Amino acid sequence: MNTKFLVAAAAVLLSLPGLSHAAGDPKVKNMMARSDCFTCHAVDHQVLGPAYKDVAKRYHGLKASASTVATLANKIIKGGNGNWNKETGGTPMTAHPHLPKAEAIEMVKWVLAQ
Ligand code: HEC
Repeated sequence: MNTKFLVAAAAVLLSLPGLSHAAGDPKVKNMMARSDCFTCHAVDHQVLGPAYKDVAKRYHGLKASASTVATLANKIIKGGNGNWNKETGGTPMTAHPHLPKAEAIEMVKWVLAQ
């Protein structure tokens, strides 16, 4: 097997949809897709809200403390702005008052895994 073949095979693998963003539990991603998260967020670029990769970077990914995870979960439930005004021009995240806290925490962990 020569190097050219390996490079080509790697390029094909990386371009397959789904594989490049395979981080995080797919069940949680489905939960987020059924909610409205992907209306305002994408993994690797800003939509209305910040890119999930940027959120993960700011809070040190899965090394984030339990209190950071809880704060972010509350932010999703209550909505609001302030932390990303430079990127969003001050657009707030809508509140998700019916989202159970445990699900919001799962979602935050999924975001931090990006
Ligand atoms: C109406 C658009 C909108 C929707 C829908 C939305 N978001 Fe957001 N989100 C934003 C905006 C705007 C911000 C930046 C808020 C700020 O500046 O503090 C944000 C910020 C965040 C942050 C980072 C919070 C912080 O304080 O750093 C997380 C995590 C997040 N959203 C997750 C989610 C999840 C999970 C969902 C689905 C349940 C969701 N968002 C739905 C617009 C949205």
